[in-house]
Amino acid sequence: MPKAVVVHQTGGPEVFSYEDQEVGRPGPDEVLMRHHAIGVNFIDTYFRSGLYPWKGNKPIIVGAEASGEVLEVGEKVAWLRPGDRVCYTLPNGAYCEARLVKASQLVKLPDSISHETAASTLLKGLTVHYLLHRTFQVKPGQTILFHAAAGGVGTLAGQWASQLGATIIGTVSTEEKAKIAKANGYHHTINYRTENFVERVKEITNGQGVDVVYDSVGKNTYPQSLHCLKRLGMWVCFGQSSGLIENFELQHLAQNGSLFATRPTLFNYIATREELEDSSAALFDALEKGILKTTIHQRFKLEEAAKVHELLESRQTKGATILIP
Ligand SMILES: NC(=O)c1ccc[n+]([C@@H]2O[C@H](COP(=O)([O-])OP(=O)(O)OC[C@H]3O[C@@H](n4cnc5c(N)ncnc54)[C@H](OP(=O)(O)O)[C@@H]3O)[C@@H](O)[C@H]2O)c1
Repeated sequence: MPKAVVVHQTGGPEVFSYEDQEVGRPGPDEVLMRHHAIGVNFIDTYFRSGLYPWKGNKPIIVGAEASGEVLEVGEKVAWLRPGDRVCYTLPNGAYCEARLVKASQLVKLPDSISHETAASTLLKGLTVHYLLHRTFQVKPGQTILFHAAAGGVGTLAGQWASQLGATIIGTVSTEEKAKIAKANGYHHTINYRTENFVERVKEITNGQGVDVVYDSVGKNTYPQSLHCLKRLGMWVCFGQSSGLIENFELQHLAQNGSLFATRPTLFNYIATREELEDSSAALFDALEKGILKTTIHQRFKLEEAAKVHELLESRQTKGATILIP
């Protein structure tokens, strides 16, 4: 029987349990898929801890991106067959050896892209794509601030934004992470543990501030992120690695220069099949052209998921992390 990392009761990384898991046969619109590589993302910690409510069947299986091969297809699935290489990003369910997935949620993986690359870039790369191209369109000559620049999303954001001709400032918590951010396209880095990042942003931009702040840190960078923006700038709050923001008030946007604010999530940006296909095509194109390169800094076995979450939540990971079933 295939194995899965399951959660019976939400809590810390220690709640993960590596168990046999019945998978079953595919329904008419489904595919039975075997995972070759599974991506680790911060969202996995939100479902494991209970920060994000679980609406599915129990036990909970977290994990939001994976790549692998089709084992069996349902009777209505005409465009896939056993042996095809496919990948997906879904809010959860990926920390397992095999699973059922709706065919409409899968994307065919080009031969030039490995399972490890797909599992480490699909969710993060699609996120960077919508953040830089759709939530706010980054243009040459603009300056952007991206928090957690050496992380999974942060490293890909640096690579992609530098190709768009923007000046990119990234925050990091260590000197080693500063070097990683620089190697991934950031022009300036700020250690937000030891430096006042608002003052440093003002220095770097000659007092102007930045056009957009991409903030996934949340609690610990609010409201300072707003103070880094130009008049009419955009605050994109897309995560909360340090905890939920509890003191946001609409009035803060007026006080800091008639700012714009949004709280986007990837799954709203790939809600239709057309959006999923267009965004995936843009991501695969960027990977094939070398605009994006994966940086898998941590590679663990599936059963080591608890160790991985400990490292992720204590800020010890860099770049992307994958689990190998
Ligand atoms: N809305 C969306 O569509 C979407 C999609 C993907 C990801 N996200 C969000 O983007 C963020 C990055 O995701 P990721 O998977 O690539 O993770 P990651 O950036 O690899 O890891 C999180 C990083 O956040 C920083 N951080 C700052 N304060 C922290 C704290 N108190 N605890 C833990 N980390 C802290 C750390 O970098 P430093 O040590 O350098 O501070 C840490 O390495 C997450 O918040 C995630 O939820 C959102």
